[in-house]
Amino acid sequence: MESIWSRTCQIKRREPLAKDMKTEIAVIGAGLAGILTAYKLQKAGKQVILLEANRIASGQTRNTTAKITSQHGLIYCQLLKLFGEEKTKQYAMANETAIQEYKRMITEEHIECDFEETSAYIYSNHMELLKKETEAAKQAGIHASLVTGLSLPFKTAGAVRFENQAQFHPLKFIKAIAEKLTIYENTSVQAVEDHLILTNRGKVEAQKIVFACHYPFINFPGMYFARMHQERSYVLALKNTSCPNGMFIGADQHPYSMRSYGDLLLLGGESHRTGENTKGGRYDALRRKAKEWFPDSEEAAHWSAQDCIPPDHVPYIGQYAAGKPDWYVATGFQKWGMTSSMTAAALLCDLICEKENPYAELFTPERFSAKEISQVAGESGQAVKGLAKRFFQIPKDTAKDIPIGFGGIVTLNGDKAGVYKDESGRIHAVDIRCPHLGCQLEWNPDERSWDCPCHGSRFDYFGRLISGPAQEDICDA
Ligand code: FES
Repeated sequence: MESIWSRTCQIKRREPLAKDMKTEIAVIGAGLAGILTAYKLQKAGKQVILLEANRIASGQTRNTTAKITSQHGLIYCQLLKLFGEEKTKQYAMANETAIQEYKRMITEEHIECDFEETSAYIYSNHMELLKKETEAAKQAGIHASLVTGLSLPFKTAGAVRFENQAQFHPLKFIKAIAEKLTIYENTSVQAVEDHLILTNRGKVEAQKIVFACHYPFINFPGMYFARMHQERSYVLALKNTSCPNGMFIGADQHPYSMRSYGDLLLLGGESHRTGENTKGGRYDALRRKAKEWFPDSEEAAHWSAQDCIPPDHVPYIGQYAAGKPDWYVATGFQKWGMTSSMTAAALLCDLICEKENPYAELFTPERFSAKEISQVAGESGQAVKGLAKRFFQIPKDTAKDIPIGFGGIVTLNGDKAGVYKDESGRIHAVDIRCPHLGCQLEWNPDERSWDCPCHGSRFDYFGRLISGPAQEDICDA
């Protein structure tokens, strides 16, 4: 399950941290947000290093569909209601500025990353919704228009078109801008105490610390686990299709996303909350759609992505938490990590350099008080459900009931365990307690992983951590 980006771009390896060190700024996470932030800070004359648990861009950056757009679903109607006109305009302007900044950097640095300007379309069968979103987007200052008669392989009432948007190859871009940065790969941060970062390779003392690691893993302060959830979505790269010109996303139930890359069409969809895919079949559902809409299509690749979703659909970018003036965070990009990463880099660079930034208040993680967090996010109910399942649901099955190639929760030696039976019949049994905050993990048959429905941590069937907020593997059962 390798994305077309990973297949077509290799980024050179960097050495892990070899000794304890001191730096002005440490950025945790060498994905797009972390690398752009470090790039801008270095340009501003700061001494900065990046600490990456795995490889450069090994997380969500290599699994994106890489649309650079201000069109984030039907967001402008929603923002007008929640925040009013001024902040809605700021959101639009922050994202439009991010698109222009990509263009500027790519031109000035002569980066060959298949950057293409194109329009973005959000389609729907509900004309009223489209009309309202068009007006809201225009009010926010976007070049938006209502269009009908799209050449899509299914029926729609029309779409809202945003002009002057873009798409690119994210790894070719990141490879170029990472070139002059100091990055330590395979250096996993285990704990952060004020200005001290403890990693598996040594200690780093930093005056300022940026958490750009997809999901902020320090639970207190911040409580990010209570203020967003994670979702997974799936992508097929298809040959032999008539690619529609532009980037597309649906606004109705079960939306699908499309964009082209060369002669491939990237078809995405089948999103669900992480940990809620126990029946599986997401790739197969996408394949059925591909055959229905593009009967001659052939699959060239498939992969999946994971996104953090904040309750008001605005990313958290700014100071990590009250009482931590030298910690910064960028997270909750929903499914729009390209523009959000650029916005985060510019905003964090300004905050660290003590410069005014017009978007600081809009994106501040401090916009919810501690009391409001769980009410607004509604995440505490999900956590209670995840914990209750672990304590009170007793599985009827035992390991022998699990067919070959399948996984599930069973009773093993009188205890509850997660079991996957591989193709040779070998049993891989793990403790299904999530090491983050203890919820019960669920089997994800599409990806043969154990996923947490509470905050979205994931583990392979050997129990090895795939992605956080958990920071450790699960144990054998
Ligand atoms: Fe929080 Fe699993 S990710 S309990």
